[in-house]
Amino acid sequence: MTARKIIIDTDPGQDDAVAILLALASPEEIDVLGITCVAGNVPLDLTSKNARIVCELAGRSDMSVYAGCDRPLGRDLVTAEHVHGKTGLDGPNLPDPTMPLAEGHAVDYIIEQLRTHPAGTVTLCPLGPLTNIATALQKAPDIAEKVQEIVLMGGGYFEGGNITPTAEFNIYVDPEAADIVFKSGIPIVVMPLDVTHKALVTKPRNDAFRALGTPVGVAVAAMTDFFERFDKEKYGSEGAPLHDPCVTAYLINPDLFSGRHINVEIETQSELTMGMTVADWWRVTDRTPNALFVGNLDADGFFSLLTERLARL
Ligand code: BDR
Ligand code: CA
Repeated sequence: MTARKIIIDTDPGQDDAVAILLALASPEEIDVLGITCVAGNVPLDLTSKNARIVCELAGRSDMSVYAGCDRPLGRDLVTAEHVHGKTGLDGPNLPDPTMPLAEGHAVDYIIEQLRTHPAGTVTLCPLGPLTNIATALQKAPDIAEKVQEIVLMGGGYFEGGNITPTAEFNIYVDPEAADIVFKSGIPIVVMPLDVTHKALVTKPRNDAFRALGTPVGVAVAAMTDFFERFDKEKYGSEGAPLHDPCVTAYLINPDLFSGRHINVEIETQSELTMGMTVADWWRVTDRTPNALFVGNLDADGFFSLLTERLARL
């Protein structure tokens, strides 16, 4: 199996951090070309710093990390310090990065990589608001047919929303960007809250991370310790949902996940339901399917994979 070439577009975020670590720990399946950062959970200066902290934690100070868009296409930025803490990566005590940001803008990097690789060989993995990806598609429409697939975390249907009653955070922050991506014609796999709320870090699962006894295992356990308080209070759940690692786990073992190929449209007009992913799960319209909308996962298989891979770092 040749490793799949990906660009991770991210706003770390503890769960983004775990998604990145999982990818970097899995070189047989995933070849991370670069990491592009976007404003989301916290402002861009912090997301682009946190991505470098995570690369250094993984021993990958050679990774190219680019800063991208610092605000949504046409709105003020909404952030999520109430979930992720002031730094976006609250929990573990990790040193400031020494590696510099790569020179240039994340959007130009995405365009350049898609133009220089053969068509259908680069997958985009957005883990935050879709501003960088939509901006790249607006600036260089020719890249749409070169993307192999977009595998993203965002949206929700049966679970509703987590930032408003109907909207999930990543889509809500930049609904116009999400609309561009979902209408792009690029094959899309969506990890909505419907599946990510089933990827819960229970106490035994977090104990398994900590028991690795490595800097990575201990840091991941501290991240989820911090991150879980929000979901425990809000949903009464057993622990933190590992939203973004569902994306990188899917690339390693898609058989852990199941969903439906359906039409998904983004609400960009109504203030009440802004950013809702209107997912035609029951196929009640004749709108053309544009995404694999994932609904379920083998949670034990997912956590075994994650623990086994994190142990490698
Ligand atoms: C998504 O929003 C962020 O808070 C997480 O990092 C994840 O990407 C979950 O709604
Ligand atoms: Ca994220």
